[in-house]
Amino acid sequence: MVHLRVLTTGDWPLWREVRLAALGEAPRAFKSRLAEWHSGGEERWRARLAMPSAYNIVALLDGRTAGMATGLPGDSDTCELRSVWVSPRDRGRGVGDQLIAAVQAWARESGATALKLAVFPGNEAAIALYRRNGFVVTGELGCLLADGATRELVMVKRLR
Ligand SMILES: CC(C)(COP(=O)(O)OP(=O)(O)OC[C@H]1O[C@@H](n2cnc3c(N)ncnc32)[C@H](O)[C@@H]1OP(=O)(O)O)[C@@H](O)C(=O)NCCC(=O)NCCS
Repeated sequence: MVHLRVLTTGDWPLWREVRLAALGEAPRAFKSRLAEWHSGGEERWRARLAMPSAYNIVALLDGRTAGMATGLPGDSDTCELRSVWVSPRDRGRGVGDQLIAAVQAWARESGATALKLAVFPGNEAAIALYRRNGFVVTGELGCLLADGATRELVMVKRLR
């Protein structure tokens, strides 16, 4: 059974554990690099969790960490879905769906009319997860990636 825990700044050791696992396991899925975060001390992790209006959740399955996601306020009436990761041993069990549903509910309660995300093109598992949860690719240009040619895909889900 999946349990979702909403984190506060005091949970920074748990956030650090899961975030480092995600960056180590799936470096090609994220713009952040593991090396950048390994140098971060307690203050840096606390500051990440203290970002105003951020919603940070960790999924626990059978008592162990199974995934994570973040919701952040975006432009105008939009919120952003970030840092989605599910541990390889727990994939295909609906953990990603539950993380997205929780961030979506948080975004709605925050008054957002849309939830937006950016994903690397070619990340088929993530794109399939987002499509399955009602996100569609927009025409918006995403950030340019390190190769200087490829851009992130921007996907959005209308909330009302
Ligand atoms: C993306 C991720 C969270 C999905 O995990 P999950 O929620 O357990 O999702 P599932 O394993 O159910 O997979 C989602 C879909 O991708 C498909 N899929 C899984 N692996 C795949 C692969 N290698 N290639 C193509 N499709 C794949 C599944 O069949 C499923 O499709 P369906 O809805 O049509 O059945 C997980 O793969 C992950 O953490 N990846 C690394 C981090 C990442 O990419 N984060 C997203 C950053 S934007």
